[in-house]
Amino acid sequence: MHKKQSIHGAWANRWIFILAATGSAVGLGNIWKFPYIAGENGGGAFVLVYLFCILLVGVPIMMAEVLVGRRGRQSPINSMRETAYEAGHHGRWASVGWMGALAGFFIFSFYSVVAGWVLYYIAGMGSGQFIDIGSEQAGQIFNNLLADAETLLIWHTLFVVMVMVVIAGGVNKGLERATRVLMPLLFVLLFVLLVYSANSGYFAEGWDFLFHFEPEALSWNAVLVALGHAFFTLSLGMGSIMAYGSYMGKRDSIGGTVLTIAALDTLVALIAGLAIFPIVFANQLDPGAGPGLMFITLPVAFSQMAGGQVFGFLFFLMVGFAAWTSAISLMEPGAAWLVETLGLSRVRASILLGFIVWALGLLALGSFNVTADWLVFGMTAFDFLDFLTANIMLPLGGFFVALFVGWYLTREMTEDELALRWPLAYEAWRFTIRYIAPSAVAVIFALNLYQKLAA
Ligand code: PFF
Repeated sequence: MHKKQSIHGAWANRWIFILAATGSAVGLGNIWKFPYIAGENGGGAFVLVYLFCILLVGVPIMMAEVLVGRRGRQSPINSMRETAYEAGHHGRWASVGWMGALAGFFIFSFYSVVAGWVLYYIAGMGSGQFIDIGSEQAGQIFNNLLADAETLLIWHTLFVVMVMVVIAGGVNKGLERATRVLMPLLFVLLFVLLVYSANSGYFAEGWDFLFHFEPEALSWNAVLVALGHAFFTLSLGMGSIMAYGSYMGKRDSIGGTVLTIAALDTLVALIAGLAIFPIVFANQLDPGAGPGLMFITLPVAFSQMAGGQVFGFLFFLMVGFAAWTSAISLMEPGAAWLVETLGLSRVRASILLGFIVWALGLLALGSFNVTADWLVFGMTAFDFLDFLTANIMLPLGGFFVALFVGWYLTREMTEDELALRWPLAYEAWRFTIRYIAPSAVAVIFALNLYQKLAA
């Protein structure tokens, strides 16, 4: 009944799956978003809640997603339907896959714009545009970039094309090849930057900022942001990990693999924080600078430090690699669906999807210039797409996956697919996926809603 392999291909081995999924997980979320939302939400207090969310909600749901993908061996939409049938339920569960595909488009649209900024900064650092600049100048460069729709369009387009090329290559010649080249480079660059930052003289301040726990700094909104970010950073709730799971070897252990991926992702976020904040403090800059933290604060810091030009270039190169491997995973679920359901070739699927996300991206791109006054619930399209996906659609998608796997798939199916070595580990996972993960999402949602209504 369950297929040995997906029609799209299979990862060469377990480590390729781990690296590919880590490539999906590690992205702008870890290096751009995590440090600035931690900075905005009180540092250590936020980090602690975030770690809880990763462990109690993220890890069990990631296991659930990989399980469904590998059992269904198809795109998330079709795997959800297939496994629902297998368990004797309605094919309507495919709608969770549909919501995920939609979330993927939305995320891609603003992700690609930020990735475009990164490409611009790689070029800028490489060509010496950032030598010897002060805060004001750095702010000006960033704001000028945001105001310049045409330049943004060029870099956004280039990024979409970079992703399309990999998607067109398919699982083995595209995704796997990109993983093999980019992931080792990413780890090397991260390590080099950590050593550089550890020598900045302000490592202790950076450490303290990330790990010093101050409960007063925490609000319910910060808890929602932490939960949403746990989903975003692990690429959960929209099908990326489910799609990658469908290419995973039948015998590979899901539990150990998922723990490795979550640990690597968390490690990269913390190291990125430890690489960024010491540099910020060494230059007396503000850790709570918001989305501009990486694009304004860091270039100033780099420009004032020995070797800053080279390390700044390497830093943005690393961020570019990370964004690239993540964006590939945002497009894969849709591509797999188009190939298996509409019979499109990989090339056609990638052109069609590339066009859709490129066009949607124009909305996010315009938020900083031409269409800055088009507001939805008081937010620009860029902010709205970020808020809607990270804080609503992904947690909701994860909530339904948890319900589906915990309550609708049979015990035999999940036990067989997970094949955990210790019976206790299975019971712990099952309890978490049935009770803890869904109620954590529900409670955090409800408290936020209550607070907004009461305000
Ligand atoms: N996990 C990626 C990051 O942290 O940047 C972003 C992402 C990729 C989110 C894929 C969701 C997704 F499905």
